[in-house]
Amino acid sequence: MKTYSTSNWSKITGYVLGFLLMNVVSLYAQNNTGPDTLILFYSKTGNTRAVCQALQKPLNADIIEIKDVSKIPTEKGEEPDIQPKSVDMSAYSSIIIGVPTWGPMPVPVIRAFLKNNKLNRKKVVIITTTNVPMPDQFTAGNKNLVKNAGGNVLAYYQVAVQEGPKDARVNKTKEQFVADALQLVPKIKKELLK
Ligand SMILES: Cc1cc2nc3c(=O)[nH]c(=O)nc-3n(C[C@H](O)[C@H](O)[C@H](O)COP(=O)(O)O)c2cc1C
Repeated sequence: MKTYSTSNWSKITGYVLGFLLMNVVSLYAQNNTGPDTLILFYSKTGNTRAVCQALQKPLNADIIEIKDVSKIPTEKGEEPDIQPKSVDMSAYSSIIIGVPTWGPMPVPVIRAFLKNNKLNRKKVVIITTTNVPMPDQFTAGNKNLVKNAGGNVLAYYQVAVQEGPKDARVNKTKEQFVADALQLVPKIKKELLK
């Protein structure tokens, strides 16, 4: 009868442990490839920040705030100094862009960012916070900006931060408009699966 020496047993144990370790490492790598969605946002007074931060977890997304770091306030039409100036988006197939509505024109910070960062056919969902939902001509500016940067705009959502009739509008609480934004999660997920 063939017998195994202690050193043979330790070799076999070593192989088995090595095999198990390789599988554990491979499983870990598969589950830790990082989020596929990036939320990029600009916010001047905090509303868009609150919405984007609330969406991060349910959308399992990374999040980056683009800030205006201009030393002197920029005049109309001038380009602001922004931070970060560029972002490596190669790991993401979907980008959520969060912006406040400032009339029909895109906010200068996002315009400056998209001038230097191309979206390479990535799926894009635009979310804007606005006093009240605006008609289509107010959404065209942001949509065109994203399209011109190479992005594929799948949806445009407006989160109203005010409510009530035209002559008696009142601010919603942050909790209210963040709850409104969270209602969009299933729709956004569906869009991003397309
Ligand atoms: C310069 C400027 C222009 C704005 N234009 C509009 C507008 O045309 N329609 C509207 O409903 N709200 C408008 N707003 C209100 C903002 O869209 C709204 O308060 C938004 O939630 C602000 O986002 P933030 O807190 O992330 O900066 C404007 C605000 C600013 C500062």
